[in-house]
Amino acid sequence: MTTNNFKKNILCIGAGYVGGPTMTIIANKCPDYKITVVDISKERIDAWNSDQLPIFEPGLKERVLKVRGKNLFFSTDIDAAIDQADIIFVSVNTPTKNFGEGAGKAVDLQYIEQTARRIKENSRSNKIVVEKSTLPVRAAETLETILHSGKNGVHFEILSNPEFMAEGSGVRDMEFPDRVLIGSKDTPSGLAARKELVDVYLHWVPEENLITTNLWSSELSKLVSNAFLAQRISSINSIAAICEVTEADVTEVSKAVGRDSRIGAKFLNAGPGFGGSCFRKDILNLVYLCEYYQLNEIASFWEQVVTLNDYQMERYVKRILQVMFNTLVGKKLAVFGFAFKPDTGDTRDAPAIYICKRLLEEKACLRITDPHALKNARKDLEGIDSEVEYIEDPYKAAEGVHGIALITEWTEYSKLDYQKIFDKMEKPAFIFDGRNHLDHKALFDIGFNVYSVGKAPLTHF
Ligand code: NAD
Ligand code: UDX
Repeated sequence: MTTNNFKKNILCIGAGYVGGPTMTIIANKCPDYKITVVDISKERIDAWNSDQLPIFEPGLKERVLKVRGKNLFFSTDIDAAIDQADIIFVSVNTPTKNFGEGAGKAVDLQYIEQTARRIKENSRSNKIVVEKSTLPVRAAETLETILHSGKNGVHFEILSNPEFMAEGSGVRDMEFPDRVLIGSKDTPSGLAARKELVDVYLHWVPEENLITTNLWSSELSKLVSNAFLAQRISSINSIAAICEVTEADVTEVSKAVGRDSRIGAKFLNAGPGFGGSCFRKDILNLVYLCEYYQLNEIASFWEQVVTLNDYQMERYVKRILQVMFNTLVGKKLAVFGFAFKPDTGDTRDAPAIYICKRLLEEKACLRITDPHALKNARKDLEGIDSEVEYIEDPYKAAEGVHGIALITEWTEYSKLDYQKIFDKMEKPAFIFDGRNHLDHKALFDIGFNVYSVGKAPLTHF
């Protein structure tokens, strides 16, 4: 429905961690397309139109500034944007349902359904609707049913194009993707729609990196990719527990195991447990799907990945408690890092949330520091943070504390002057390196008692 000098009008509904960055990259790579991103949240759209973008992602701001107002627009006028669009990406949130049937596992599809109904109501020309959100298998069928109900003569072709970018490396992941997956129907209109989306990506993605499949394979592949990645983390975290009791070293084990080219080296870093808005949610989505189809053994297999992750976070807390003489009452602990991973301010499902809550239950006093996530940390601990201080400077955060819990491996934490930090800490001084991020021998030589994940402790006792 293009009425301007652009080849096509692309719309993205949902201006979040995925919608904003993906559309910014498309706008940068496709100057011949007009891209509009809309959201029900005026606050988010205002932020995208300001100098303070709503999310922190390395390299994103420069790219937004290059195209904003030229071929990239952020707006709250959802209805008009739908009417004008040729291709509509749906990138709204699909959280785990926290009520009713399937609570705690199934996906809450209310935002998807609201979006589908709004698209239907405001469309006067044929459109391609692209599932960018992560959805249960066969969600496209539901979308199609809603969109084609009522017969207003408009044809909607549904494609699945899941997003594989990881936060913190989102720009690079989208500019140089391992693969772009596009699922479509095998009908003439399905294949024509698929070609239109392929043409968008061919602006910068090599053809051999484009994978086309049927709709259901595409939807399922997204869940499976996240399940496999998370499963590797739970696997290595389980081995970390064995290392701690046998004096094997998890870093050495993961290096030795990962060197097998059939296994590969990535995603074998032991830690305090995986976090982020996707892994837990998407595995539970897979588990729910298995239960729905009465594949109960398969559901339990995948659920164990999440169970192990919960165990790992709790294990980290228990170790702190045991090592610090089985009481944290009134003790000060500096928490280094609150984001679920470095290079993002995102704290959704961050292990730090669980760990800090548990430490507070043990009546510790926390000094939380993080380069980009303190604003979110305040929200996450709202109402239970009377014994929490949020401090930007890690040196100040560590002043007078009994121990340091490193939960996020920000590069800056490996470059701190730990002698200076040690000098101002209570003694004995403890450090719990949840990410095996620091130089443990150097810390031990300074005088710290060092506890890391999957390694024998280095202590002065
Ligand atoms: P998000 O919460 O950051 O953004 C979603 C946005 O959609 C919000 O701004 C919300 O206001 C908006 N929205 C909700 N309902 C709407 C409606 N009816 N109309 C207009 N806007 C509406 O979520 P996100 O992290 O961007 O994730 C979006 C989807 O992408 C999810 O399905 C997620 O699983 C998937 N995904 C996320 C990532 C990631 O790294 N965050 C990676 C891959 C896939
Ligand atoms: C993930 C997927 O990687 C991405 O493809 C998908 O699109 C969205 O979900 P994201 O959650 O942004 O991306 O980050 P990721 O790098 O996968 O890290 C997730 C969590 O796993 C983090 O908490 C991270 O610290 C943890 N992790 C990762 C480990 O504990 N060990 C590892 O070896 C790797």
